[in-house]
Amino acid sequence: MQGLSALLLLAAAIPTSNAAVTWTATPFNPAAVPLAVRSPYLSAWLPQGSGAALNAGWPNFWTGTILGWAGFINVDGTSYNFLGVPSVPSTTFTKAVQTDLTITSTQSTFSMTAGPVDLTVQFLSPIEPGDLVNLSLPFSYVALTAVPNDGKSHSVQLYTDISGEWLSADDSMTINWTTTTTGNVITHISQLENQTLFGDINNRMQQGASYYSVLNTPGTTYQVGQDIVVRAQFINHSTLTNTSDTNFRGISDDWPVFAFAHDLGNISSLSEPVVISIGFARDPAVEYITAGGAVQHRSSYFWSRYATIDDAIATFLGDYSNAVMRAKAFDTKVLTDSSQSSMPINYHSIVLLSIRQAFGGIEITISKDSNGSYNTSDVTAFLKEISSSGYISTVDNIFSAWPLFLYTNPLIGKALLLPLLEYQAAGLYSNKWACHDLGPQYPKATGYPNGNDTDMPVEESGNMLIMTLSYTQWSNDTSLIHSYYNLLNQWAQYLQANTLAPSLQLDSDAIAGPLANQTNLAIKGIIGIKAMSEMSFTNGDNTAGSSYNTTAYQYVEKWQSLAMAPGGLHLTLAYGNDSSWGLTYNMYADKLLNTNIIPESVYNLQTSWYKEKSGDLQWGIPLDTRHSYTFTGLLRSRRTLQLEANRHTAGWEIWTAATVTDTSLQTAMVNMVNTYASGQQNNEPFGDWYDTTDGDTECSSSVCFKARPVVGAHLALLTLSPSNISTGPSSNTSGPGSGGNNGSGGGNSTTPASKSSSASPIQAARWLLGFTAATCFAALSSA
Ligand SMILES: *[C@@H]1O[C@H](CO)[C@@H](O)[C@H](O)[C@H]1NC(C)=O
Ligand SMILES: *[C@@H]1O[C@H](CO)[C@@H](O)[C@H](O)[C@H]1NC(C)=O
Ligand SMILES: *[C@@H]1O[C@H](CO)[C@@H](O)[C@H](O)[C@H]1NC(C)=O
Ligand SMILES: *[C@@H]1O[C@H](CO)[C@@H](O)[C@H](O)[C@H]1NC(C)=O
Ligand SMILES: *[C@@H]1O[C@H](CO)[C@@H](O)[C@H](O)[C@H]1NC(C)=O
Ligand SMILES: *[C@@H]1O[C@H](CO)[C@@H](O)[C@H](O)[C@H]1NC(C)=O
Ligand SMILES: *[C@@H]1O[C@H](CO)[C@@H](O)[C@H](O)[C@H]1NC(C)=O
Ligand SMILES: *[C@@H]1O[C@H](CO)[C@@H](O)[C@H](O)[C@H]1NC(C)=O
Ligand SMILES: *[C@@H]1O[C@H](CO)[C@@H](O)[C@H](O)[C@H]1NC(C)=O
Ligand SMILES: *[C@@H]1O[C@H](CO)[C@@H](O)[C@H](O)[C@H]1NC(C)=O
Ligand SMILES: *[C@@H]1O[C@H](CO)[C@@H](O)[C@H](O)[C@H]1NC(C)=O
Ligand SMILES: *[C@@H]1O[C@H](CO)[C@@H](O)[C@H](O)[C@H]1NC(C)=O
Repeated sequence: MQGLSALLLLAAAIPTSNAAVTWTATPFNPAAVPLAVRSPYLSAWLPQGSGAALNAGWPNFWTGTILGWAGFINVDGTSYNFLGVPSVPSTTFTKAVQTDLTITSTQSTFSMTAGPVDLTVQFLSPIEPGDLVNLSLPFSYVALTAVPNDGKSHSVQLYTDISGEWLSADDSMTINWTTTTTGNVITHISQLENQTLFGDINNRMQQGASYYSVLNTPGTTYQVGQDIVVRAQFINHSTLTNTSDTNFRGISDDWPVFAFAHDLGNISSLSEPVVISIGFARDPAVEYITAGGAVQHRSSYFWSRYATIDDAIATFLGDYSNAVMRAKAFDTKVLTDSSQSSMPINYHSIVLLSIRQAFGGIEITISKDSNGSYNTSDVTAFLKEISSSGYISTVDNIFSAWPLFLYTNPLIGKALLLPLLEYQAAGLYSNKWACHDLGPQYPKATGYPNGNDTDMPVEESGNMLIMTLSYTQWSNDTSLIHSYYNLLNQWAQYLQANTLAPSLQLDSDAIAGPLANQTNLAIKGIIGIKAMSEMSFTNGDNTAGSSYNTTAYQYVEKWQSLAMAPGGLHLTLAYGNDSSWGLTYNMYADKLLNTNIIPESVYNLQTSWYKEKSGDLQWGIPLDTRHSYTFTGLLRSRRTLQLEANRHTAGWEIWTAATVTDTSLQTAMVNMVNTYASGQQNNEPFGDWYDTTDGDTECSSSVCFKARPVVGAHLALLTLSPSNISTGPSSNTSGPGSGGNNGSGGGNSTTPASKSSSASPIQAARWLLGFTAATCFAALSSA
């Protein structure tokens, strides 16, 4: 491994905290702070880099383009800017001073000082997995609370606005707008004049509208007009004119902004929060191909509960104080689980930073029946790959994020699997293996009639089988197995013929290029065959169940001898390449499913090897050794070569950490990802593919993975946690075969009696119960 030692020498640059950062940060200042992150098209972040305050830069869309979002607070006639970096000619204002940033799974809260008044700016993007309608709402809250810090009374007014940049990355696009008052809600609605159905251009949706809303409480005023005019109006007069400029124009043509102001009057104690909601909604949301090739238009699930967008916004705004209690209950649950004694120190930081980002990459949809009513038995979800491509429902991305969906609500996983299963069961995909995705450009899930998607045959077939069994185990719902048995069986047959020695092909780490006989890929397929054994028993097909079981065990034996490096020191990256190695993260699936077909000795072996390799590393164990040998002959700069040699994905690092048998190594691996996440090396939403020598995502180069939903992978330890699965099979199994849970529970009477029932579903039920109980408790104690 000549490449590695050279690279270790490069691992010198350790970030120093920025002297300009004067605020406290919990858990730390991430590269980008999630502000309003609810969908692929509502994704607002504060790029922080080495530490930038809320009023030191503009919020950005995940791609890095500016989202105009400005905020001022007037205190006794003096203006302080607290959000964004507006420039307002002929006016005088100063900057509020940021004193704290606290980030939880659902909230990013900034504390600012504006002279004699302290201001709290809370950005809340709810995560409500217990109700998929709530989870589908593309709306976030901002809540502003003021309190004097000198014991005196002060006159306080608050102001915020958004620009048309929330609608397109192309500032020349013409937008129009209207301001409506419905019931007690005022909403600024703005949209592109030229809309394109399902048109994703530069990752922005050319369809739908942005909604900026507040409750019409006394002292609330609004204005639409040129940015410098509207902002000057507030700075000069502490109130807006309730007027709208109706000269519809380009986003950057005298920059129209949509503003609200709120007069709190003289306050001497903590004010009631001023609550703002921001959303981006469209209808229909997703195009999906169904049996026979008919194209279906699917709506965001929330439309099935609310007759109009006004109803949805009114409910959302009116429910803020309850939403805060639910958010706190969720945050507490995540905190408790991810910081329990069995968890590595700092694990919670990675988890909390991943949850909004991952849910921000999926959308939950519903279809309409022939007479236009919503079909509540047809709820499906889609994932946008984000940054690495614009694919819809990329299977290996869903797989990576799978631990998050299991942990929060397995039904989300089911909703993500269904479009893939239905599409392939309908005969719309011509290959024998599982497809890679449902279309190259979100949100068009129109598939590949020629079967010419990106080939990852073993990868995706294994993923589909593993996820389908895992969903069944966590839910006790055997419907996917029964409904799609033939399809699942077809993929298992494919794996039986192809996984032991996978041909030259891509795996999930497609960026590394194709490779034959990949050890990590082969074991995924083998676990997939074992999963099919369990599912066959569940479906009453005992012959197939036994046969697949036998195959899986035989393959594991052969795989060990094919993949073992000489001297039995470690598994290779590819059979026969004795010096190669990599993170065999797919072994995680054997733990997750509790199939236990890989001998403990293999986990121990890999653990020892990683331990040896991780000694001096700061940022993570490299994903694999591939490029240190495959690219040496190419004309590449030394720098490029070294970066590629040492890149890894944070998600797979955590999957691997979940499989190691040494607590100190697990802690070290989690800490390396934490070092990266807190390392302030760039301005981007959590990037999962980075250089293990300096923690850099190299987003200036062509390869930049950021804001991807795959970070749901970081919850991998939670779905194996012994205390989450306290009655679980992982603690009481005694070796291969004896402890496999088939999870079919009350399902099929032909389930072999030798199978113990899964404890994972109990865990899932407990989670939902705990969540409900905590919510009720919070509600009661506030009553
Ligand atoms: C879903 O949202 C509604 C309306 O805001 C709220 O009443 C309900 O409690 C939420 N449900 C869950 C499970 O969060
Ligand atoms: C704005 O443009 C959309 C899309 O062309 C159109 O449907 C809508 O009526 C327009 N609204 C106003 C207020 O002109
Ligand atoms: C509307 O947008 C589409 C897609 O961006 C573009 O092809 C078309 O030329 C635009 N039409 C007008 C009238 O601007
Ligand atoms: C502006 O509108 C608000 C809300 O309707 C109202 O309370 C206020 O009196 C209006 N102000 C002006 C100046 O018209
Ligand atoms: C704000 O005050 C400045 C300075 O007096 C003046 O130049 C500007 O026109 C005022 N703008 C508004 C909108 O009141
Ligand atoms: C608010 O306080 C200021 C002094 O800070 C005082 O001049 C003003 O009259 C007060 N306004 C109200 C409505 O009480
Ligand atoms: C909608 O149409 C279906 C047939 O497509 C019919 O069975 C159903 O009764 C209709 N529902 C309503 C509310 O009209
Ligand atoms: C797949 O084939 C279709 C039809 O020939 C073609 O339009 C499309 O570009 C192809 N897609 C890829 C990814 O090759
Ligand atoms: C893959 O491994 C098998 C088993 O060792 C071997 O027969 C085959 O030639 C290998 N394939 C490649 C492309 O190296
Ligand atoms: C198992 O259950 C499914 C669904 O209930 C049923 O279709 C299937 O026939 C059952 N298998 C046996 C062998 O009973
Ligand atoms: C699967 O095969 C293993 C190894 O041969 C055996 O110990 C186990 O009992 C088998 N399990 C089932 C359910 O057939
Ligand atoms: C799943 O089934 C098992 C066995 O019947 C049962 O103990 C468990 O409570 C069930 N879990 C759920 C979530 O339904």
